[in-house]
Amino acid sequence: MNSLQSPGSQNHNLLRGMARTNKKTLALPLEPLKETMSFVMGLVMIGLVLFIYSVSNAQAESSVRPPANAVKNVINKDAAKKFQTNRIPGAVLNRSSDSDTWRAIRHGVKGNVSIPDTKAGVLVQDSGESYRAIRNGPLFSYLGFSMLATLILLAIFFAIRGKIKVDKGLSGRKIKRFSTIERTGHWLMAISFIILGISGLNITFGKSVILPIIGKDAFGPFTYFLKLTHNYIAFAFMLGLIIAFVCWVMHNLPNRGDINWILKGGGIFKKGEHPPAGKFNAGQKLIFWAVMIGGLSLSVSGWALMFPFEYSFFSSTMSAFSAIGLDVGNWLGMGSAPYSVIQEQQYNNIWHAIMGVLMICLILAHIYIGSIGMEGAYDAMGSGDVDENWALEHHSLWVEEVKAQERNADGANVQAAE
Ligand code: HEM
Repeated sequence: MNSLQSPGSQNHNLLRGMARTNKKTLALPLEPLKETMSFVMGLVMIGLVLFIYSVSNAQAESSVRPPANAVKNVINKDAAKKFQTNRIPGAVLNRSSDSDTWRAIRHGVKGNVSIPDTKAGVLVQDSGESYRAIRNGPLFSYLGFSMLATLILLAIFFAIRGKIKVDKGLSGRKIKRFSTIERTGHWLMAISFIILGISGLNITFGKSVILPIIGKDAFGPFTYFLKLTHNYIAFAFMLGLIIAFVCWVMHNLPNRGDINWILKGGGIFKKGEHPPAGKFNAGQKLIFWAVMIGGLSLSVSGWALMFPFEYSFFSSTMSAFSAIGLDVGNWLGMGSAPYSVIQEQQYNNIWHAIMGVLMICLILAHIYIGSIGMEGAYDAMGSGDVDENWALEHHSLWVEEVKAQERNADGANVQAAE
């Protein structure tokens, strides 16, 4: 075949051969360069993938509070141990799965943070869920039911017994029952308690009862205003409580006569029966101590709610019970002390609500008997003077004391005049 090729074609072949020779000559220095380039590109790609991967991981970790740089070690030793046993099957990536991590966080794993607020080390506060369930569930229903039941019982009592009248009728003669300072203390305590009760009930029940009626736009500022009122009026209540305590504590010490009064039911169930009593009868003494102890408890728990994370009343109380062998914390489903500062706030909140509603129930009964329930009772706190017959029927021993004091004072005056 080559012999038949024309000189032109020979030239062409020659040229092709030369080109091939030239190509070979040129390819020699480029090959290693290309390989190096591919290697470098490969490294860059792997680096890029690793970079994107680590950035996405870092973002996932920093998308929750506190910021990643504030967290020294999110997972403590216990949690770390748990993760080691929870590796992804095959341990391909040599790390635990995200679901394990978040499950542990969801169950309250605590980390260490470098910022002063150590609470930030807890990303998800597990007991908050139980607290929410109790507050919006049984607590809400039982408290609401207690107040409703009290109102119904009082209405039934009123329907059956009617207004308790002064059996002998009003005499028209007045006797001084409470001084100005006593009444000031009472009304300071009473008015502030009523305001606290209304604003407090809005905090517990407002979202379910008031919000649907007045709507979100009004409920927000309304609740904010009541919340501020609640905080400030609390101090007036504490002052009223102190004044009432100082004025009345000596008259409220229990004595033997109280048993007789209680056995006769205070005479309120039977017309014409009037067991003797001093300035305060046994029923009033119970109210007095309930108001003092309940009021103190409300004040202390309210104070701890106003200045959060400062006190650990529940930890110290439950530890004291444990020390005498009573595991009250576990009986009540709170677990063993000590509790975290956040749990302290939650228990305080529940306690404050329970005490508040118990006091409201008691005071509803007190207001009833001090106003529409008993003829002549309101005057004691209104003008400070009561009818003598009313006083003789409900506080006969006290009337004797007052009369004896008057006689002594008269005697002293006569002696001084002589
Ligand atoms: C409109 C509301 C109230 C009325 C009409 C009212 C009426 C009365 C009356 C008439 C007395 C004197 C009873 C007597 O002479 O023997 C009294 C005493 C008393 N009140 Fe009130 N009160 C009211 C609200 C409150 C509140 C809110 C509290 C406490 C938070 C309270 C605590 C007391 C205490 C501790 C006594 C002395 C013990 C007793 O008599 O039961 N009161 N109140």
